[in-house]
Amino acid sequence: MVKKPLIVLNFKTYAESMGEKAVIMARYCEEVSQESGIEIIACPQTPDIFRVAGAVKIPVFAQHIDSTGAGGFTGHINADCVRFAGAVGTLINHSERRILLSEIDSAIQSARKAGLRTIVCTNNIAVTSAAAALSPDFVAIEPPELIGSGIPVSKANPDIVSGSVNAVKRINPKVKVLCGAGISTGDDVAAAVELGTDGVLLASGVIKAKDPKAALFDLVKKI
Ligand code: G3P
Repeated sequence: MVKKPLIVLNFKTYAESMGEKAVIMARYCEEVSQESGIEIIACPQTPDIFRVAGAVKIPVFAQHIDSTGAGGFTGHINADCVRFAGAVGTLINHSERRILLSEIDSAIQSARKAGLRTIVCTNNIAVTSAAAALSPDFVAIEPPELIGSGIPVSKANPDIVSGSVNAVKRINPKVKVLCGAGISTGDDVAAAVELGTDGVLLASGVIKAKDPKAALFDLVKKI
C-alpha cells in the first residue's frame, strides 16, 4: 500500500474525450474517485470545461491558459474566463503546448489572481528547477519521448523523477511533484509514489483504453 496520490487525467484533443464524451470520461473519473477516495482531476479541452464542470463534482482543470488579461486579446485563453467556466486549476507549459519561461511566470500569476491551482509541466530536471522557483502548486515532469509511448516514466526513467523530486525539495519544498508519460497501471502509479512524487499526470493509458473506467480502477488498485 502506498500513500494517496493525486491522479490528473489530461483529455488532450482525443476524439474519445471531447464534447459529450468528455462528460462521460469525467463521470468515470468521478465514480472512481468517489469509490477509492483518491482525488482525480479532469482536464478537458477549453470549450468542454463548462459542460464538464457542470456535470461532475471532481475538480476540472484547463489544459492551458494565456496570461493576457481582459480586453483586446482575441483568441487567447483568459484565466478568469476559465474560472467562470467552472475550472479550478490549469496545466501550464504542457509539452504539446510549450511557452517561454517568462510566459510560464505570467501565466502562474494570472492563474493565482483568478483563483486557479497550477500544474507546470517540465521536460527535464533543469526545467523542473526553474519551474519550481516560480512557485506553482505542482510541477509535472514528463519526458517528451515517453509521452503516449505506453512505457512508464516511473519505470523507464526513475532518475529523472527522483532528480526532479530532489531539485524541488532544494529549491521550493512547498511545490508538489507529479510525473507523467506512459503511465497506465496501478503498478506505474505505485512506482511514481515510491520515487517521492505526489501523483501522476496521464492521458492515453485511460483515454485510449478499451474500457477507460476499468483502466481508472486499475490505477488506484494499489492505494
Ligand atoms: O499530460 C499527460 C501526458 O502528456 C502523458 O501522456 O499518453 O503518455 O499518458 P500519456
